[in-house]
Amino acid sequence: MYKTHTCGELRAEHAGQIVTLAGWVHHLRTFGGIVFLVLRDRFGITQVVSNPIAYPEAATALETLKNEWVVQVEGLVRLRPPDQVNPKMTTGEIEVEARRVTVLNPAKPLPFVVNRDDEDVDETLRLKYRYLDLRRERMKRALVLRHEIVLFMRNYLSQRGFIEVETPILFKTTPEGARDYLVPSRLYPGQFYALPQSPQQLKQLLMVAGVERYFQIARCFRDEDLRGDRQPEFTQLDLEMAFVERDDVLDLVEGLFTALIPAVAPHKKLLASPWPRLTYEEAMERFGTDKPDLRFGMELHNVSDLFAASEFAVFRSVLEAGGMVKCLVAPGCANYTRRQLDELTVQAKELGAKGLVTLALTEEGSKGSGAKFIHEAEITTLRQRTGAKTGDLLLFVADQAKIVHKVLAALRLHFRDVLGLADKDTLAFAWVVDFPMFEWNEEEQKWDAAHHPFTMPRLEHLDRFESDPASILSDAYDMVCNGYEMASGSIRIHRRDIQSKVFSLLGISEEEAQRKFGHMLEAFEYGAPPHGGMAPGIDRLVMLLTDAPNIREVIAFPKNQAGRDVMADAPSPAEERQLKELHLRIVS
Ligand code: AMO
Ligand code: AMP
Repeated sequence: MYKTHTCGELRAEHAGQIVTLAGWVHHLRTFGGIVFLVLRDRFGITQVVSNPIAYPEAATALETLKNEWVVQVEGLVRLRPPDQVNPKMTTGEIEVEARRVTVLNPAKPLPFVVNRDDEDVDETLRLKYRYLDLRRERMKRALVLRHEIVLFMRNYLSQRGFIEVETPILFKTTPEGARDYLVPSRLYPGQFYALPQSPQQLKQLLMVAGVERYFQIARCFRDEDLRGDRQPEFTQLDLEMAFVERDDVLDLVEGLFTALIPAVAPHKKLLASPWPRLTYEEAMERFGTDKPDLRFGMELHNVSDLFAASEFAVFRSVLEAGGMVKCLVAPGCANYTRRQLDELTVQAKELGAKGLVTLALTEEGSKGSGAKFIHEAEITTLRQRTGAKTGDLLLFVADQAKIVHKVLAALRLHFRDVLGLADKDTLAFAWVVDFPMFEWNEEEQKWDAAHHPFTMPRLEHLDRFESDPASILSDAYDMVCNGYEMASGSIRIHRRDIQSKVFSLLGISEEEAQRKFGHMLEAFEYGAPPHGGMAPGIDRLVMLLTDAPNIREVIAFPKNQAGRDVMADAPSPAEERQLKELHLRIVS
């Protein structure tokens, strides 16, 4: 037996017992001829001390150890003298007097220290030696939390009649809006599997199969530009239910998360229960985004009507061209310097604005670039409308809705961070519902599905397919929290005629639909039940609950920002022999 106890287990009640521990040398120090070794395993740390007089051999062995060696220690559990009790350590009441020390494996000096969390180590180095990085307490905590979350989900859903079904990784393209990863087939030259961007089609087929309540901790693969909250492969809690309406799905997922948070992260508080529901339109109107951070106010105000006859040509012309003017009130920022205002303007322009009008309400009157043309009467109305007070700074953007919203939503988050407006331990979960079904793709001059093409349009909007596709709403919904999109889902199309209508508007020909989704269309003809579901992202949830600055911190072996695995050095060239077998040739 390598160990009788873990390094996190021993308490005062174990005093007097002979135990065996095994783990890594976490910390070593010698004091007054006595070696103090802190031994670490996954479960905690325990102090081991030498007794050179009674057990000289063990004491000498302890003296030769180095950090991160793997060792086994047999010894006597002793109560620490009262002045040496360490209340910060769960095993701080005791220490182990070493009687026999065995080195199981020495270690080279590590490329970085792992026995401290605050050490700022270069991320590339951490990723290259991820197996060492994961020894750090903070990383281990994230792994454990992730496990607890998944376990909770599995139990919660199992208790409610869901079963977990595995679906293939080698499959066919499933559109979620990203590029596919393709896998060449050896047996079928020139043919490819696609890795699933999600199990979307398969879970719908499971509904046709009569599973009724499905879930899966599902790996998804998407070849898209990486960001702080995106990885090329990530994990969803994927779920689907038959014979449900939208609210059945929302209630189930809200129930799951409301029970989950206190169970796995009790220091996090839900801002509201039940969760607020916003329509997509309302979210855009008030926050400029479909994933608003509801932990603080600072809502956007539409002041277009106020400036319809403005002498400021920019505002007037934007409004005449069907655009809008909206503003944001930054509380207590009227004293911003010229330089700070310029920086905000630069930020706005980088986001696509043509400029930023500023109006500071100071004791000595209004200042900023808007002061010359925004008159007293307008300021009075602005104060009434927006609640702005002396000491506040107003920021205006005039443009088409898309730009105005993008810029002001980003500035809102900027002020959240610099003014500390949001509490990090508050979780403001909310639902965003009533999404548009289609989005106009300006670049390609075609309609795209706002969620995915299997989403059910509102039945009462079916007659708008020809006349006004933009106005068609769908039964899609998002779960958002603290400015992140945490989950998406929808009620699905289960009627072939509606599915065809959607494909046709998306410019997918009957022939292409058959080729890509023939199996789905056919399945719908064999008694498909009404169904719907959703998929919360697990990585993003762990990120939120650990206050991680990016998604890589909560994935055991992530890709770096450039999509590489720097530990294994992947992707890497294939052998000539492999390429040949796959009937592939590299064209440079
Ligand atoms: P969607 O594409 O919106 O929906 O994804 C659902 C959730 O998955 C997470 N997510 C990601 N997490 C990390 N890295 C990524 N690259 C990434 N992309 C998505 C997010 C997101 O909210 N099949 C549908 C769900 C459904 O309709 O049931 C789907 O995949 O948390
Ligand atoms: P200009 O007339 O271009 O010198 O701009 C005067 C002020 O209006 C500057 O502070 C610009 O940043 C700002 N501005 C210009 N265009 C816009 C716009 N579309 N929305 C908001 N502010 C703008």
